[in-house]
Amino acid sequence: MHSNKLIDGRALAEPILERLKSTIASSVQEGNRPPGLCTILIGDDLSSQIYVRHKIKQANKIGIQNFHHDLKSDISESKLLELINSMNDHENVDGILIQLPLPAHISLEKILQAVDPFKDIDGFHPENVGLLSIGKPRFIPCTPKGCLILLEKSGVSLAGANVVVVGHSNIVGKPMAHLLTNLEATVTVCHKKTIDLKKYTREADVIITATGSAHLIQPDFVKENSVIIDIGITRLPNGKIVGDANTEALLDKVKAITPVPGGVGPMTLAMLMENTVEAWQFRL
Ligand code: GUN
Repeated sequence: MHSNKLIDGRALAEPILERLKSTIASSVQEGNRPPGLCTILIGDDLSSQIYVRHKIKQANKIGIQNFHHDLKSDISESKLLELINSMNDHENVDGILIQLPLPAHISLEKILQAVDPFKDIDGFHPENVGLLSIGKPRFIPCTPKGCLILLEKSGVSLAGANVVVVGHSNIVGKPMAHLLTNLEATVTVCHKKTIDLKKYTREADVIITATGSAHLIQPDFVKENSVIIDIGITRLPNGKIVGDANTEALLDKVKAITPVPGGVGPMTLAMLMENTVEAWQFRL
């Protein structure tokens, strides 16, 4: 699929990663320690393993030191809390990333609250969620942060724009809505209980979709010249990875659209690296 309407996340992430790499290299040359990222993977979920592997690989590439912990799915909540506390105290760890989802016997709230808010590069600690909601963010969650950069590149002007966010998760939909509200977009948050989704998306200048429902967004869901940011990732039975939007069918109608794969994913990863570097700069 080749079109100048496709927003190439991989190409746009490249200069960001290069900039981070040279920031780290020159600081290390001056005698500072490199940034440290602690990744915690619990259990054997295949997608989570792949995501964490990508994060570690990217971190290594740009000069971030990795501290990885691979834990069995039956690890107790108290043992996990102990590990988080030791990473909070670790001098050379700047960012802590606990790959989600967690096993059912572990409280997500307790775990997210245990992370030092200054090492919370995912931006999931309630203190950081609150700071974002009042427009004073410390760490912006990586996926919504990356989406803003992609939107900027699409040339759309967000102030006053009608933006529909499909999905109201704490990881994506809600922080996305806060960010866009802070930028003075008119934001509508839709989700699986929304009656007549199409009624909302058809009026949107921008649609940001994060449902994991393959090809939910079809041409009759969008207005001409809208911008579509597709966060969904679904593996079809034939092994093909697709997004929430039927990209090919939408190309004629939209102004710009992110492909899956190669759109939001690589930019999210770049933002994780950026947040880790910011956490390191706080602590240097
Ligand atoms: N699982 C799916 N998305 C994310 C994310 O952004 N951060 C973490 N830690 N886990 C995830």
